[in-house]
Amino acid sequence: MTIKEGLNWAKEQLLEACERPQFEAELLLAYHLEQDRMYLLTHDNDVVEDIKNFQDLIQRRAANEPYEYIVGSASFYDIHLEVEEGVLIPRPETEILIDLVADIIKKENITRIAEIGVGTGAISVVLARKFPELHIITTDICDVPLKVAGKNIDTFGLNAQIELRKSNLIDEVPEALELVVSNPPYIAEDFLLESNVVDYEPKKALFGGRVGDELLKQIILDVKARDIKYLACEMGYDQKEPLQEFVNKIGVKSIKFYKDLAGFDRGFIIEFK
Ligand SMILES: C[S@@+](CC[C@H](N)C(=O)[O-])C[C@H]1O[C@@H](n2cnc3c(N)ncnc32)[C@H](O)[C@@H]1O
Repeated sequence: MTIKEGLNWAKEQLLEACERPQFEAELLLAYHLEQDRMYLLTHDNDVVEDIKNFQDLIQRRAANEPYEYIVGSASFYDIHLEVEEGVLIPRPETEILIDLVADIIKKENITRIAEIGVGTGAISVVLARKFPELHIITTDICDVPLKVAGKNIDTFGLNAQIELRKSNLIDEVPEALELVVSNPPYIAEDFLLESNVVDYEPKKALFGGRVGDELLKQIILDVKARDIKYLACEMGYDQKEPLQEFVNKIGVKSIKFYKDLAGFDRGFIIEFK
């Protein structure tokens, strides 16, 4: 099979699973050949070596496996992070949370923070790269994210700045902190998700409880109890009202909600004192 024939075959296989089948077919063939996409255009009559391996990649994608798990890498902010099944693929909306936290760190000269739920390390790695004086203790309750985040922290040479800790929320982080950031699981247990998400991504990274905001509320209570000044979290598009009511009840200095680029409510910053 030539490159041109391989792409035509792959595009047909991906019609149902992908919004952009031609584009993903090209990405996966370029990955298989260890070339860039431009190479495919200029070598379209070359024979595809090891075609069986390429066909396997396409069949995995046609079965809805996320592209990032197939190639083992995800693009996020200004970097590429290693990913594998068992760890959440970082999402572009989380970049907004990072920028808001970065503004507070700058304004307040903050040097000691914690992240809850490290995943690939996306939030902690980007923040540590932005602020060389920042020390981050970052937790996760699951082993795969701790392992994958460890690799990403190594890759970017950030071991002196980011400390990984297996912990429920910040239970194992007794140190004094100025800010906590988290993109916790916040989806309701019965929410219908697409196959590429629910069949492949870890449940512990997705579901926040029966209603969805249970873990978010626990994080708010824990951070308030620890006398930490700031909490910045991502949340679900329909959680603004219940969380506003919740903080009204427990009392905080201020809560500011923010939206994602699609205009949906997506998170909040709480100042406790
Ligand atoms: C939505 S993912 C976020 C991953 C990463 N921070 C990101 O933004 O891409 C949530 C992470 O929280 C972890 N997690 C779930 N429950 C937790 C808990 N009780 N304590 C600490 N981490 C938890 C999951 O294992 C998962 O890695």
